[in-house]
Amino acid sequence: MSISDIPRTIWWEEGTVRMVDQSRLPLVGDLLVCNTYEGVCHAIRGMAVRGAPALGVAAALGIALWAVTEGAEIESREDFLDALDVVAAQITETRPTAVNLFWGAERMKRFARENADVSVDELRELILAEALNVMAEDEERNRALGAHGAELLAEGSRVLTHCNAGSLATAYFGTALGVIFSAHEQGKVAGVWVDETRPVLQGARLTAWELKMAGIPHTLITDNMAASVMRRGLVDAVIVGADRIAANGDVANKIGTYGLAVLAQAHGIPFYVAAPTSTVDLTLASGDEIVIEERDEREVTGVTASGVIEPHSPQEFRALDLLTAEGPYALGMTKGHQMEISRKGGGYQFDAWLRIAPPGVPVYNPAFDVTPAEHVTAIITERGVARPPYAESLAGCCTGSGAIHEIG
Ligand code: MRU
Repeated sequence: MSISDIPRTIWWEEGTVRMVDQSRLPLVGDLLVCNTYEGVCHAIRGMAVRGAPALGVAAALGIALWAVTEGAEIESREDFLDALDVVAAQITETRPTAVNLFWGAERMKRFARENADVSVDELRELILAEALNVMAEDEERNRALGAHGAELLAEGSRVLTHCNAGSLATAYFGTALGVIFSAHEQGKVAGVWVDETRPVLQGARLTAWELKMAGIPHTLITDNMAASVMRRGLVDAVIVGADRIAANGDVANKIGTYGLAVLAQAHGIPFYVAAPTSTVDLTLASGDEIVIEERDEREVTGVTASGVIEPHSPQEFRALDLLTAEGPYALGMTKGHQMEISRKGGGYQFDAWLRIAPPGVPVYNPAFDVTPAEHVTAIITERGVARPPYAESLAGCCTGSGAIHEIG
């Protein structure tokens, strides 16, 4: 078991964008092959690919995919650049909060305009190469920020994390988990508390899976147990990722992060945010300006589950075969529960949504919250560790115009 057992998140292969479908992990591990940029948009909306840095890579690869497929039919440079802008806009419309999505699309747009003196054919190839750079650089950044963050942890640290800011949320290696992976290599991690992270359960599904593969001791808790484990003195540091960090150090991250930060402060536990500089949005003065995505109420009113069906008998096998003969079969269910059975590589799979709340209950489902900078002990980036006052330290680290406030 080691970090290298974790599969890559998203990559380019044979003229397509490929990714591990995270919407059903860890119980069903599908490979998703996107032949068009619309397919990439669909994958982002459905959270097959998710996590801020991974979304930046998805935007870059999606634009490159368009450039070498549909875009290959456009001959005029101006038409090509205009169409690329439209594609980039469609990609960034998929989800509003993680700035990396916008960052990735902007970087590709800028790159295309800056290299417009070559032929359109050459430009397409350059765009693909640039998207691959975006992917490779993301992994480099994560490894660098992981090393900086590991310096902050003492030997025997018990760390609490929320959501999935692991390898799957990035091109590879992860942000908050990148710090934990690096510290683990130095023998510093005694254990990790994994918040399950309602409603989409990225902690229970993805973070627990990654930590298991990496061979790092971990314990899964429901979100409402965090206060109790802190009060019992079982947490030495909280480390989370970020979807967008404003110029003043306010941090948008998975819903529930703000509560953890307040709890950590109340218990005298350092609260660290680990994110590459591509997550810092210096155009926003404070977190009040960050658009928070609201998602489908069904994430809150029910739970989804998928799995592989192993027929016990030839009769069961025949029944499943019959039911799925003409495509996926939706079982008749009461109360709005849904279960579909489909054929899958010689076997069968179920995909279910099971209602837990009464039909018609009003729901509020913000996917992220904003943690005010005053609760954040430090922000760990690939360029070092930024400390308050963040207006200075983040500006220094992101524009390259000054030193980071403190390193290590
Ligand atoms: O909705 P998601 O799964 O895309 O949200 C991801 C997060 O909020 C993660 O917690 C995170 O820290 C940002 S990605 C490293």
